[in-house]
Amino acid sequence: MPVIVMMNPKGGTGKTTSALLLAQALSKHSQVAIVDCDRNENILRWQDNRKSLDRPMPFAVLSAPADDAEKVMDIIIEAEDGHDYVIVDLEGVKTQTATFALGRAHFVLVPIKPSSMEISLAGVAVQHIKGTSKVFQREIPFAILLNRTNAAFATHRERELRSQLDEAGVPMVPVTIMQREAYANMFEDGEMIEEMDLNDTPRTKALDNRDAYADAVIAMIQQIEGK
Ligand SMILES: Nc1ncnc2c1ncn2[C@@H]1O[C@H](COP(=O)(O)OP(=O)(O)O)[C@@H](O)[C@H]1O
Ligand SMILES: [Mg+2]
Repeated sequence: MPVIVMMNPKGGTGKTTSALLLAQALSKHSQVAIVDCDRNENILRWQDNRKSLDRPMPFAVLSAPADDAEKVMDIIIEAEDGHDYVIVDLEGVKTQTATFALGRAHFVLVPIKPSSMEISLAGVAVQHIKGTSKVFQREIPFAILLNRTNAAFATHRERELRSQLDEAGVPMVPVTIMQREAYANMFEDGEMIEEMDLNDTPRTKALDNRDAYADAVIAMIQQIEGK
């Protein structure tokens, strides 16, 4: 039932990628729906690609009109009923739809690339979440999700940004999503990571990182809900 919202008013930070990876991992044991509010419709295309190859859908993809906040809200509420997790993929702009979706969120993920410029832009996202918390008179739990981190080791910059965020008391998902070809390529053919034609090592690494990220998100949600 938890609604997990991917938001960052900046485009290209990894909202759609992290939504799709999370849905893949969670669908191994749960009923999942993605509400696709992104006008680029990458997730819908992923679904279409799967259908054209006769691959079964591991989770539901619900298309939502980004410019109709009330309709998006209805789609989210309806999806909450029949699914263990509802993942909302917002587009990269600050809109009423984003505010409404935040109002419904149990947990918000703010994906950013590990760069100082992106961290300051993420401040806009955090302000939006905090402002929306005031409107709805409830805390909206969120965490920054570092995306496209170096796959071989944590760079000096990444470590520096992490400690900056730590010092500022900004919550962070403890697992980062690494920069991986498999994560970019999965959109091309509508594949799950496990279905990709990869050698054992890249496959295992891409799967392990995807699943560790999803486990970390679930642990954070459980901690919030247990409060
Ligand atoms: N972890 C990653 N590894 C490789 N490519 C990535 C990763 N995250 C995002 N990308 C690529 O970066 C681009 C933007 O990502 P996307 O998820 O569409 O961002 P957003 O939804 O925030 O606009 C896409 O081409 C995507 O394939
Ligand atoms: Mg997107």
